[in-house]
Amino acid sequence: MKPKVLLTHPLLKEAMDYLATQVDLELATENMLLPKEELVARITDKDGLLCFLTDPVDREVIDAAPSLKIISNCAVGVNNIDVAYARSKGILVTNTPEVLTEATADLTMALILAVTRRIVEADEFCRQKLFRGWKIDLFLGQELGGKTLGLIGFGRIGRAVARRARAFGLNLIYYDPNRLSLEEEKQIQASYRELDELLAEADIISIHAPLNHQTYHLISAEKFRLMKNTAVLINVARGPIVEEKALVEALENGRIWAAGLDVYEHEPEIDLRLLKLKNVVLLPHIGSATYETRKKMCFLAVENLLRGLRGEKPLSLVE
Ligand code: DGY
Repeated sequence: MKPKVLLTHPLLKEAMDYLATQVDLELATENMLLPKEELVARITDKDGLLCFLTDPVDREVIDAAPSLKIISNCAVGVNNIDVAYARSKGILVTNTPEVLTEATADLTMALILAVTRRIVEADEFCRQKLFRGWKIDLFLGQELGGKTLGLIGFGRIGRAVARRARAFGLNLIYYDPNRLSLEEEKQIQASYRELDELLAEADIISIHAPLNHQTYHLISAEKFRLMKNTAVLINVARGPIVEEKALVEALENGRIWAAGLDVYEHEPEIDLRLLKLKNVVLLPHIGSATYETRKKMCFLAVENLLRGLRGEKPLSLVE
């Protein structure tokens, strides 16, 4: 008998078709938001769960599935899953690291450029038919060369951003609870700073840390007070790392110059005040959204799931 698997939302077609040949597959919904009661109700007889960052897999969900062997998350971040509890029940948890590093780093650079060169505002200006000719002070922005990029979180994605940023002439500083060796820092050409030092020194601050108890509201009102008033904040990691209320105030009051966001504290809700501000570029959590990367994420999540169901070690186990 094939193992029973709950897939919370569709994968890309090729991956979902393949999965359907391997397991007894139940697709919960086509919609990206699945009510928790429904997840709880549908998981009861399942051996495997393939889920996404929008699915909260907490104790209640885990307790509802006595035969569950593996939770395969189709995302690198696993803040939607109670990993410690799953592990205590002998359930494997997997994610999709590495395959999305380059796409997410590309999107970070896109946001940095869009914000510093006011691309979205300028595009809107053209669409409104307001362009009446070249002007010396039309949409002045900030130049990247010679500025300092402060990376908060210096894992795979932070370092991939660093590689790109060097080509734009940015100086690099980083903060991470795990400091690199001096040898590695020299090779990447990035210098370590304590968080508060980084916030005070950086012209552009970009967040690439996981969301956990240590990083929740890491960037609070107090931290905004440390930043330059010309600073740009980029967040492509997880919304709750930034206290959104404090960010809105900082943008409204000119405490910082601008921001670029791909994630939100109460996703998918976006604070209405952010929607009214010109000095923020807003994206709908598309950091990894390229055809190539999303296909790799889907197949990696499927492979992890199948391996876990066969009792083999998955390719990317969350330890
Ligand atoms: C992740 O994988 O955690 C991203 O947020 C979505 O690709």
